[in-house]
Amino acid sequence: MSSVIEIENLTKDYEVGFWRKRRVRALDNLTLTVAQGEVFGFLGANGAGKTTTLKLLMRLIYPTAGCARILGRDINDVSMHRRIGYLPEQPYFYDYLSARELVEYYAELFGYKRAARRQRAAELLARVGLEEAAWDKQLRRFSKGMLQRVGLAQALVNDPEVVFLDEPMSGLDPLGRREVRDLIASLRAKGVTVFLCSHILSDIEVLCDRVSVMRGGRLAYIGTIHALRETGASSDSHRMEITVAIAEAASIERNLSSLAPPLKVVATPGGARIELTNEHDVMEVLAVVARCGARLVSVNPLGSSLEEIFVRETKAEARP
Ligand SMILES: Nc1ncnc2c1ncn2[C@@H]1O[C@H](COP(=O)(O)OP(=O)(O)OP(=O)(O)O)[C@@H](O)[C@H]1O
Ligand SMILES: [Mg+2]
Repeated sequence: MSSVIEIENLTKDYEVGFWRKRRVRALDNLTLTVAQGEVFGFLGANGAGKTTTLKLLMRLIYPTAGCARILGRDINDVSMHRRIGYLPEQPYFYDYLSARELVEYYAELFGYKRAARRQRAAELLARVGLEEAAWDKQLRRFSKGMLQRVGLAQALVNDPEVVFLDEPMSGLDPLGRREVRDLIASLRAKGVTVFLCSHILSDIEVLCDRVSVMRGGRLAYIGTIHALRETGASSDSHRMEITVAIAEAASIERNLSSLAPPLKVVATPGGARIELTNEHDVMEVLAVVARCGARLVSVNPLGSSLEEIFVRETKAEARP
């Protein structure tokens, strides 16, 4: 499969300070490629250099060293930028425009004629889940989540072949997050390449083919989600958590105490939380839960493999 995003030794120093200028390296020698049709997760703690990377690729700032190509073209090739989409971290628009006017404006920039523009804006606003009643409201009256949706519509206006999304879930409620997740999945189904910065690991885990973790401006980890799952399975870290609802938590605790597997029961308002050290014991515990007449609320792995890698790679001491 061909590479759609190729980043080579990309480096960015910011100059900080007023009287005494000094240089701070925000991105250090980043090299990576993303294949056609891939949904690539770009992770890292706050300040790790994610937004800096995206801004460099979008030509909003200039690199200190290194280069990058998108769709086989150098990032300085302006015509290539017509074929890609970008959602900034904190989209900020001229807020006396309505959502419809803003998206139509972007459509105009991409050469859509009047009637086509109107249709395109309606199509996109519906696609990002913005209620029709809000389409003609001024953006200054929008909530953060609503603005985020307008930002997404804007990023997709030209039917891009590659989309760069900086924290697309930020500010969205759970329903909105799910909608954006579905939207990204639909982009993948259409063969669009997605470069996704997010802190929401559960979303990354269900959406992405490969992920990388940045630490202090450097690439600390890169690999497929599949490989991550394999490492997770071979370690003994697959702890599980079962949550149940029951009026009398003591009865479930009593019944579970006779089981062989090691577990911990913590009473919660309305029920109990059961922690297991081994995922293979889940069925046995569920049988007891059913026998006690408790209602099953959830069964969750504790600490997914992605989360573990994220914590390990972002907390590790900087390598020499
Ligand atoms: N305009 C700037 N001038 C000086 N330093 C900057 C500038 N923009 C970013 N930095 C620094 O560069 C580093 C990387 O910042 P960046 O915004 O790329 O991080 P990030 O990974 O996007 O973080 P977050 O998860 O918080 O969005 C940080 O140390 C930040 O302080
Ligand atoms: Mg950022």
